[in-house]
Amino acid sequence: MSRHFLELDDVSAVELDQILAMAEAAELGPVLAGNGVALVFEKPSNRTRNSTEMAVVGLGGHPVYIQGHEVGLDMREPAADVARTLASYHRIICARVFDHGALERMADALDGDGTEVPVVNLLSDRAHPCQAVADLLTLRDAIATVKGGDGLVGHSLAYVGDANNVCRSLAMAAVMVGMDVRVAAPDGYQLLPGDLDWLEDAARAAGRSGSVEALSDPFEAVDGVDAIYTDVWTSMGQEAESLERLAAFEGYCVDDALLEAAGEGAVVLHCLPAHRGEEIAASVVDGERSVVWRQAAHRRTAMRGILAWLVATPAERAGVLP
Ligand code: CP
Ligand code: NVA
Repeated sequence: MSRHFLELDDVSAVELDQILAMAEAAELGPVLAGNGVALVFEKPSNRTRNSTEMAVVGLGGHPVYIQGHEVGLDMREPAADVARTLASYHRIICARVFDHGALERMADALDGDGTEVPVVNLLSDRAHPCQAVADLLTLRDAIATVKGGDGLVGHSLAYVGDANNVCRSLAMAAVMVGMDVRVAAPDGYQLLPGDLDWLEDAARAAGRSGSVEALSDPFEAVDGVDAIYTDVWTSMGQEAESLERLAAFEGYCVDDALLEAAGEGAVVLHCLPAHRGEEIAASVVDGERSVVWRQAAHRRTAMRGILAWLVATPAERAGVLP
């Protein structure tokens, strides 16, 4: 059966290390030569589409961009039938969807048919795992630059804002590599109790001392951390709630006062697009402690690792780790 990448918990902590190592491997070869990769987008994208297309090209494959309305997931035909059709032309199916369940139905249909085509989540209402791999690569670079060393075990991250798709995948990735994660969000927008259990179980399974804590005070969350992360307050698909959300998130802007409270050396991440003056101050996202452009560039590095890992044999995956 194929491996899929719908959320970080589709891989173990060691497999995540393999993906990170493949992402940064000097030479992977044309592992997708002669193969197509379908890229279905139900929502807009700048970084994800471009980084994935270029990663596919870098691995010798041929990306095919498909707008959501062309295939009409669960409208023109069931998501399962879209997947079965695309799998007859492509080596990997990547999709950005409104409903995470559509990705699960695509993966289940292919598994049920015995079709060896992985499905990759390019963002859903629940998760953004490819972003989280890029975030780990960025954190590794940034923390190694500021503090020395090359690992993330024992380092800390504060996520401030909406505990959304990006937050959930980031927190999962971070606890899997042994980071301590604090999430500061207002009532109604915090991680759900089920998410906390899921993250704590993953931290235990990884056995690397990672932890997760849900807080409401952003100043308490950022105290002494190595990195601060934020994302938009209104995600794609939630536009009708934007006024209500603007009010709910008052006091959660990552601004100079919050950065000051984090202490010296904290770096700032944002998956982008950024709304200056809402979830992040212009002086912070454009300031010297922001690593957002390195992070955006790592979207391509990350996709290289994820796609190459998915088509590699178990022996090839294991072979990338020392
Ligand atoms: N961070 C991210 O996924 O950006 P896009 O929505 O532009 O792809
Ligand atoms: N949480 C945001 C991330 C965009 C990359 C959204 O889902 O719109």
